[in-house]
Amino acid sequence: MNHWKRYTVTAALPYANGPKHIGHLAGAYLPADIYVRYLRAQKRDVVFICGSDEHGTAITYQAILENTTPRAIIDKYHGLIEDSFRRLGISFDIYHRTSEPLHHQTAQEFFLDFYRKGLFKEIEAEQYYDEEKQVFLADRYITGTCPNCSHDRAYGDQCEKCGKSLSPSELINPRSTLSGKPPVMRKTKHWYLPLNEYEPWLRNWLVRDHARDWKPNVYGQAKSWIDAGLQPRAMTRDSDWGVKVPLPDTEGKVLYVWFDAPIGYISATRQWAINTGNNWEPYWKDPDTRLIHFVGKDNIVFHCIIFPVMLHMHGDYILPDNVPANEFLNLEGDKMSTSRRWSVEMHEYLRDFPDKADELRYVLCSIAPETKDSEFTWKDFQTRVNSELVAIFGNLVNRVMVLCEKYFENRVPQANSCSDLENFITAQRDKISDALENFRFREALTEMMNVARHGNQLLSEKEPWKLIKTDREATANVLYDCLQIVANLGILCEPFLPFTARKIFSMLSLDERHFTWSDAGRQDLLRPGHPLGKASLLYQKIEDAQVEAQIAKLRHAAAAASGSAKENHQKNMPEISYETFAKMDLRAGTVIHAEKVEKADKLLKLTVNLGNETRTIVSGIAEYYRPEEVTGRQVCVVTNLAPRKIRGIESRGMILMAEAENGRLVFVAPAETIPAGAVIR
Ligand code: 2FM
Ligand code: ZN
Repeated sequence: MNHWKRYTVTAALPYANGPKHIGHLAGAYLPADIYVRYLRAQKRDVVFICGSDEHGTAITYQAILENTTPRAIIDKYHGLIEDSFRRLGISFDIYHRTSEPLHHQTAQEFFLDFYRKGLFKEIEAEQYYDEEKQVFLADRYITGTCPNCSHDRAYGDQCEKCGKSLSPSELINPRSTLSGKPPVMRKTKHWYLPLNEYEPWLRNWLVRDHARDWKPNVYGQAKSWIDAGLQPRAMTRDSDWGVKVPLPDTEGKVLYVWFDAPIGYISATRQWAINTGNNWEPYWKDPDTRLIHFVGKDNIVFHCIIFPVMLHMHGDYILPDNVPANEFLNLEGDKMSTSRRWSVEMHEYLRDFPDKADELRYVLCSIAPETKDSEFTWKDFQTRVNSELVAIFGNLVNRVMVLCEKYFENRVPQANSCSDLENFITAQRDKISDALENFRFREALTEMMNVARHGNQLLSEKEPWKLIKTDREATANVLYDCLQIVANLGILCEPFLPFTARKIFSMLSLDERHFTWSDAGRQDLLRPGHPLGKASLLYQKIEDAQVEAQIAKLRHAAAAASGSAKENHQKNMPEISYETFAKMDLRAGTVIHAEKVEKADKLLKLTVNLGNETRTIVSGIAEYYRPEEVTGRQVCVVTNLAPRKIRGIESRGMILMAEAENGRLVFVAPAETIPAGAVIR
């Protein structure tokens, strides 16, 4: 288990184009930090790498839309994100930036290595171009009508309504999201990574080496990508923001952000080595180094497929030994999203709950989406803080300190304990180690808390506040044991609750630097007669009013964001003439039958009476209406829409729906019942 000579631990480099939320924290940064702190407590050689990912289309387009520069955006958020991480105790050894020259140089060296070895495929292809904004458009930045479900805001890579993967050329009436204008096709040349050629190697590595030691959610996702067949993938883009392609006559071309970003881990390690007088190379090239990438669910393919292929193609580098990615953390019943403002941003939490970093770390670790999506609610946050951290952990430490002050002059009592505390704590320490070595952070946290529970049990059983009246020696023994438990907790809680650990050591007047993980279990961390420091409360209760305020703030922000999203949508719609409008045949219809479409969660098949005829119309409303709720309703129908096959059913027309909050769809209907087939104008 401990044969590794050193550890390189990376946490996904966040895009520096906005604040990061607690879902990001729970997904990658917190588990990474817990793991690294645990390694450091054992005096193992470890470097913990992170930094800002400052390139990519998201940042370029954001700059265009906000009428500013990418540099202004990244400079604003790099500092904010770094500061939030620091205040949450995320203890990176370096927080680098991909806009740094050392990074550009490192990424270009990689590119040139592949280029000189002839490993790239040069391919010229047509791509959508926005003539007004003068940029090539990434798939995500083209919207249009979905050929599958007619949703009018499908993206060039996917329709979010029916879930179908798309390519931009499949969209009906494509428009640039930047200018709202139809894009044109232009030829452009790029360098492709022939992932398909590395498929046998990749399959062998993944299946042979990692089928058993990787988390099933990670292994499963990586394997299914390989099974679906890998395609060559362009490693360059047309843009003037990013790492320049280091070849002649390539003006306006930069490296694809997913080519340069993971190399950012390497350049950050190089910078760390320069800062600290270390040699970076063993951290990336020595097979005795354990390389671990902590990432969120949406980064799995890049860290389990593309980056390993790149490291393998280069040849000098080690491969990740594990990618313990988490799933998503939802918030109050919905997906977390900064743009929809349905999120708890790290810096906002820190502003609203100053000095409560450990409370958040504790709750996020307890509910971490380790194997499947999980959910944060403010009520649950309150319950876990109040009934676990305050009532169990904080209460133990406080009672023990107060009793020692009251009965033993604030010193460690003279005692000759003969309990089997040592065995118990050593066993707990080993359980925590085993869980952490295998990335089971929730379990590790529970075992740590069981040590505190044990201390509380001891107090409840022996009741030293009563015992003192009859037996001072026995009381001394109990409090001596309890103090040792508290000191042990100082060591064992540190990876999870670093601020708490520091307070415990300060209350016990101990120097935490004198203790390592293997000291946990000792029953003599504090010597009899040792003077204790001043007791203070570790945690305070979260009040109902605080929880209610957070929920109200969330709902308010989300409602405001949904309003401005609609305004943007309106701005992007092209003007049409009356003639164009008049071409639509809109009619009132009555739904006479509705049923679910097999194997399509979102679709209902409706039979609609239009007066002189009945039509079959497939509509993407099954998430919001059951068939029996639809039958008998009056609806508005676009009757002259070209017929389309959806899931093998010919759909003739479209039912109009209005979008309510969070994308929920509701019927648009005449205000009173009118004859089926009546014209709407
Ligand atoms: O998803 C993201 O936020 C990416 N910026 C993660 C990059 S991880 C690594 F490759 F740098
Ligand atoms: Zn669709």
